[in-house]
Amino acid sequence: MCGIVGYLGRRDCTDVLMDGLEKLEYRGYDSAGIAVFEENNSIKTVKTRGKLTAMKEKLTVEGKPLGHCGIGHTRWATHGEPSDVNSHPHSNGRVTIVHNGIIENYAELKEFLTDKGYKFLSQTDSEVVACLLDYYYSERNPLRAITETLKELRGSYALGILFKDFPDRVYAARRGSPLIVGVGEDESFIESDIPAFLKYTKNYAILEDDEIVCLDNNGEHFFDVHGTPIQKEIQTAEWDVEQAQKCGYPHFMLKEIHEQPEVVKKTIDSIVKDGVPDFSGIGLTDDMIRGFHRVFIVACGTAMHAGIVGRYAIEKLARLPVTVEIASEFRYMDPIVGEGDLVIVVSQSGETADTKAGLELAKTRGAKTLAIVNVKYSAIAREADMCINTLAGPEIAVASTKAYSVQIASLYLLAFRFAYARGIILEDELKRLTAQLYKTPKAIQDAIDQSSQCQFIASQLINTETLFFIGRGFDYALSLEGSLKLKEITYIHSEAYAAGELKHGTISLIEQNIPVITVATQKHILEKTISNMEEVKARGAYIIALCRKGTAFAGKTVDLKLELDFGDIDDMFVPLPTVCALQLIAYYSSVLRGNDPDKPRNLAKSVTTE
Ligand code: M6R
Repeated sequence: MCGIVGYLGRRDCTDVLMDGLEKLEYRGYDSAGIAVFEENNSIKTVKTRGKLTAMKEKLTVEGKPLGHCGIGHTRWATHGEPSDVNSHPHSNGRVTIVHNGIIENYAELKEFLTDKGYKFLSQTDSEVVACLLDYYYSERNPLRAITETLKELRGSYALGILFKDFPDRVYAARRGSPLIVGVGEDESFIESDIPAFLKYTKNYAILEDDEIVCLDNNGEHFFDVHGTPIQKEIQTAEWDVEQAQKCGYPHFMLKEIHEQPEVVKKTIDSIVKDGVPDFSGIGLTDDMIRGFHRVFIVACGTAMHAGIVGRYAIEKLARLPVTVEIASEFRYMDPIVGEGDLVIVVSQSGETADTKAGLELAKTRGAKTLAIVNVKYSAIAREADMCINTLAGPEIAVASTKAYSVQIASLYLLAFRFAYARGIILEDELKRLTAQLYKTPKAIQDAIDQSSQCQFIASQLINTETLFFIGRGFDYALSLEGSLKLKEITYIHSEAYAAGELKHGTISLIEQNIPVITVATQKHILEKTISNMEEVKARGAYIIALCRKGTAFAGKTVDLKLELDFGDIDDMFVPLPTVCALQLIAYYSSVLRGNDPDKPRNLAKSVTTE
């Protein structure tokens, strides 16, 4: 969702802001803008609907703001269409702001401020923040204006603020939306995410909910919501600049698909000690595991699909009941969850609003919570009782790929340990399973090496407007993910079905040449899946099958086959290599259609509003 940047230092502020916004492009946006203090202490704002290329053109036409202190924003529209006027920054009176989040009570605040004589230019909820700050600003005291304003706001926000009277200060505050403070030498940054300032400094502090920061020529000054000074720990980022760059790949998505063998191995290595998964370091002991009666996996999108793989693995191996819940449903369904339950929240970004709310609900109900999160400094990572920090490195493309793989690798390892702690398997089997998982990076690489076949399959889908994915068990979980990946970056209508469920209604949609991508890797149910393939074939479907090397299908059932070499890994682990083929099919389909797979329309990378 929206990206925020802010800078104070000796560099050319416009360059730093534009560079930061470019690094935040992955978050998804439809307009952009910057505001910079110029030499005469006036603020120059340049903003436009569209991508950063449009911003760059506008900067050429209108002249680049010259200065050393400013804020910038990429907007993902919520209130008001994408337009020049709705783009941030917004100024009113003596205040200029950028905002990420949603002000839930903006309508009543707008009414109050209109009564006080404020005029609104945009349709955004954000503009009320600028007006309210101006309303509370008196006696040249910006901090008081901010603390008074924050008392009135409901909803979520990360704010970057400039006060006209203070041309060498950037203020920022947050609740619910991420904001990181970059600490450089004689320069400071505020950014929605670390990659935006990694080029200049690796040192940062995390602004927590209800905290405020002021950047000035003496550094970074932190305050609580009452305006009382507080101390913050300065941390050092482990990510490096190359990880946040394309490194020769045409798109981040392709680079991230290719990184999977390495990041899966790294994540397994970080959990395995002496050949077996060991979670004692994060506080998850065997005794504790034995106390759990049920497991909930709560997540959104791809992370939720990883949860489905996790469910199958935990139930199969540890015989512990698991339910997978869509976070936006879980948080409002008054779930029966509490003591004795383990709630696993899965999130790449660690900032997804619904997943975070699910975590908070589980905690209030007395359940133990465990986060599987890729961003170590994220809110979810910090709020959960225990946290597995997956090691995918920064995932920039909006479509999640490598994060899914490290999530399922972590869930497999949990499943092994649960099975062992509950006495269902002995140490020998625990070691065997772990060794099996260690074989997956090679199988993943073999699947990635099938890129040209994936590209060919994509070429066969070039005129497709609708298609289906089917599979059973782990293959069904994969179908859901394959379908989501394809639709989010190609805009082809696609649905995933449990293969046996199709004939209960959806089969009526199968017509001549409708593609049905069948994931058929699970040996014990292969015959059943083949029967379902026959059913759709009989109705004219064009069948593309993803299967284990050497799988034979009778007659003309299959139109196109992608055989994957899994070596001798158990069926349970084949989602890891198979998903890579599905990701590649989606990637090439997107490219062949002329889309930008890294920045699909309407989507945001981290969904910080509900
Ligand atoms: O950051 P999270 O893992 O919590 O994000 C969850 C979903 O928003 C995310 O997986 C989304 O579905 C992706 N666009 C899928 O590629």
